Amino acid sequence: MGFLGVTGAFALVYVTARFASFLYRLLCPVKLNIRKFGEWALVTGCTDGIGRAYAIELAKRGMSVILISRTKEKLEQVAKEIHSKNANVQTKTIAVDFTKDNSIYSTIREEIRGLDIGVLVNNVGMSYDYPEFFDKVEDSAKLVNNMIRCNVDSVAYLTQMILPDMLQKHRGLIVNLSSVSGRRPVPLLGLYSGTKGFVDLFSRSLAAECASRGVLIQSLCPGFVVSKLSGIRKPSLFSPTPEQFASSAIDRISLPFTTGYWAHDLQDFGQSLLPEFLSNKVTMYVLGGVRARALKKRNRAQ
Ligand SMILES: NC(=O)c1ccc[n+]([C@@H]2O[C@H](COP(=O)([O-])OP(=O)(O)OC[C@H]3O[C@@H](n4cnc5c(N)ncnc54)[C@H](OP(=O)(O)O)[C@@H]3O)[C@@H](O)[C@H]2O)c1
Repeated sequence: MGFLGVTGAFALVYVTARFASFLYRLLCPVKLNIRKFGEWALVTGCTDGIGRAYAIELAKRGMSVILISRTKEKLEQVAKEIHSKNANVQTKTIAVDFTKDNSIYSTIREEIRGLDIGVLVNNVGMSYDYPEFFDKVEDSAKLVNNMIRCNVDSVAYLTQMILPDMLQKHRGLIVNLSSVSGRRPVPLLGLYSGTKGFVDLFSRSLAAECASRGVLIQSLCPGFVVSKLSGIRKPSLFSPTPEQFASSAIDRISLPFTTGYWAHDLQDFGQSLLPEFLSNKVTMYVLGGVRARALKKRNRAQ
């Protein structure tokens, strides 16, 4: 076999292996009863978007929910909605801002003391106002501080707080919200991509550590979902509503890595086949357009 033949054979094996892994994630997740992990689920960033949909879906599946976000009124509204639909579950609300200093973790620790937490959903996250070159971001020191505290510290500290109890009980599930943006470089959203890359690798490392010790850890890497953060308002084939997304993702909790949604699996698979330089060029072009429109809008408003 000549050089081209060998290269072709390797490429075929590689693509077949990727496709088999894609099909497995798409078709074979074992649906688990989420209640078997414990009585309470703790969801961060739960008053909007994906976190809110997770909290509501987990309550629908019989879990009591600890709701954590910044805004007290919005937390009470979600708690009320959960009670109106599920008389048998309890809720507890904790208002903290994850961009603040580490004393918030002492507050959370005190509030959850004694509760049987079976599921932790590290969902809270923030991104840029619009795509931008890292050196041109306005007040970049504040962005670095806030995004690392919100997207990275929250995942590490809450996992550090709750995982030991789960391991002791030999049951538990931790779902960490990464993103397709954490799977490969995203120029013009570099810091966001980096924080989500941390979440992905941290989660998959812990998943391997905990696999034989009764606790499931999942790196959840969605594509676009309708939400404030994504700026997408209308659902489409590749942008489900948070409710569609949460219901699909909770059916896939047995997987240590998933995008959570079939169309995002397809997207992730397609993107994984692109060489990085090409993927970077496409992203620069697309996000460059978003940046230009955002700057134009901002200049008009000033
Ligand atoms: N939407 C997408 O397309 C997408 C794709 C991939 C990954 N993700 C990830 O999924 C997660 C959720 O995203 P989303 O789109 O659902 O976001 P979202 O709609 O903007 O909701 C964010 C939630 O987090 C809370 N929050 C924001 N900043 C906070 C802070 N500093 N302290 C405490 N709570 C805070 C917000 O509530 P308050 O304002 O009341 O605090 C809100 O409940 C994020 O980690 C994101 O990176 C999203």
